[in-house]
Amino acid sequence: MTPMDTSTATPDSAAGHPVVELDGIRMSFGGNVVLDDVTLPVRPGFTGLIGPNGAGKTTCLNVISGYLRPDQGDVRLGGRSVVGGSAHQIARLGVSRTFQTPRLIPHLSATENVLTGAGRHYRGGHLSELFGLPAARRDERRLRGQARDLLETFGLGEHPGRAASRFPIGSQKIIEVARALLNEPRLLLLDEPAAGLGAEDVDRLVTGLTDWAADRDAAVLIIEHDLELITRLCPAVAVLHFGRIIQSGAPADVLRDPVVVEAYLGADFAAGD
Ligand SMILES: Nc1ncnc2c1ncn2[C@@H]1O[C@H](COP(=O)(O)OP(=O)(O)O)[C@@H](O)[C@H]1O
Ligand SMILES: [Mg+2]
Repeated sequence: MTPMDTSTATPDSAAGHPVVELDGIRMSFGGNVVLDDVTLPVRPGFTGLIGPNGAGKTTCLNVISGYLRPDQGDVRLGGRSVVGGSAHQIARLGVSRTFQTPRLIPHLSATENVLTGAGRHYRGGHLSELFGLPAARRDERRLRGQARDLLETFGLGEHPGRAASRFPIGSQKIIEVARALLNEPRLLLLDEPAAGLGAEDVDRLVTGLTDWAADRDAAVLIIEHDLELITRLCPAVAVLHFGRIIQSGAPADVLRDPVVVEAYLGADFAAGD
């Protein structure tokens, strides 16, 4: 196999079987069709999902992560249907997500907040926690180390003990990403992680995610309006418009497609490109 040229990869030609696959998803709310026949393979590495506000991007994440059950279609995780599974069950299969607005516990430290992502790998369980069994104590030490390493990865290792609420909003969003990575997800779903971030934080985010993904097979599906970030991170991008995927492929091609420009990007982008 030749090394993948990420500049020309499309979702269908990119390496690897899909980690998750949306297949013919239809989702409506009270008769309002929000996703219509959405088919989207998400392979290892980064996949971008873009589209105007209200296009249905967050709804896609909610369907994948089990927060919503689609009217029609299938969601396959590692080839296996997970439609009908609860959010909790799907999380246990290795799916992590962040939300458009950070959901940290404000008074807990950065490290403690990252640790709340531990659910899936806490082998000790409640009883050993209660009795302070050695296995649980070892787990906790290991997880604390991992939490601090993740904060370092994202350039936030300086104040691991500082309360989450005392970090700027951009850093809080990055702490939430670190939390989503603690349990070694095979699929990470990020909902506008760069919204509200300054240039420095965007760099932290991109560097941290790239470092994290480098030696892993995980897939990252990232919703984002920052098209520069999408172009930097994602060899493949799909465009959602009024609940339909209208185009997908390499960002360089997709962002030039007249249909995409018309639907989403507007004349300014086309002229300025
Ligand atoms: N739980 C819900 N109940 C009713 N309508 C919803 C619900 N969630 C989303 N919608 C509607 O679905 C459409 C797509 O929303 P969303 O997926 O949040 O779009 P995006 O993330 O692309 O901005 C919007 O019109 C929104 O109002
Ligand atoms: Mg959204």
